[in-house]
Amino acid sequence: MSLTQFETFQRTAASQRPRVAIVLGSGLGAVVDRVRPVAQIHFAEIPGFAAPTVHGHGGRAVLGDWAGVGVLVFQGRMHYYEGHSWDRATAPVRLAADLGVKFLILTNAAGGIHDALNPGDLMAIRGHLKLLDADAWKSPEIAVPYSPRLVERMNLFAGVYAALTGPTYETPAEIRALRAMRADAVGMSTAKEAEAGAELGLEVAAISCITNKAAGLAAGALDHSEVQEVAGRGEVSNRMANLLEGLIVSETTGIA
Ligand code: HPA
Repeated sequence: MSLTQFETFQRTAASQRPRVAIVLGSGLGAVVDRVRPVAQIHFAEIPGFAAPTVHGHGGRAVLGDWAGVGVLVFQGRMHYYEGHSWDRATAPVRLAADLGVKFLILTNAAGGIHDALNPGDLMAIRGHLKLLDADAWKSPEIAVPYSPRLVERMNLFAGVYAALTGPTYETPAEIRALRAMRADAVGMSTAKEAEAGAELGLEVAAISCITNKAAGLAAGALDHSEVQEVAGRGEVSNRMANLLEGLIVSETTGIA
């Protein structure tokens, strides 16, 4: 009997033993160019996954070597706002844990609420407000899924990420409310993935790429192409890639 693409991928992972899983958010797919690929598979071929519907999300899992470290990179994610269940949205995290990964690094595109955050900036997520319809405010078993040690190591503005379901951007009034709640950035992913990872015993870090000032904080309307354009700028994705590389190397080799 011949193996499915997924079974072949699993076998490769079993021998390559990736240590770090990385989820690349909107527009950040080019970061995968830093990886020397060993195997790759489309989401559509992975049981429990689905092909992405949002433009700018690659929908591939790439197993490879980054700076001498085994990595599993998810280029794109499955969002709740695309109609996926939370179970499906967090399936990559469970797959990563199944394949033996120890560290989970989540990236996303987000709108900046804090005055110090401008398009092109990176923010280390130190906590989140989970304002998702399925379980707004429901606390997970692990209250803060983000590793304080990794937050510190990133040496970035460390802030609170408000996770909303989307798919629409917020109204200016909603952003004023989120600011009053002390959210620093806003987006439509990451919180549930971080909680799932922490519950599985992974050490989790998350980084927002600020692609725009949140609604009402700058002139003009927001749109997805702007988000992708900013995250996809060579200089921005390079900075994200350098940050990830620093984390991967220091965490997995123990060299601070
Ligand atoms: N709001 C929500 N999600 C986002 C934004 C935003 O302003 N920018 C990028 N993702």
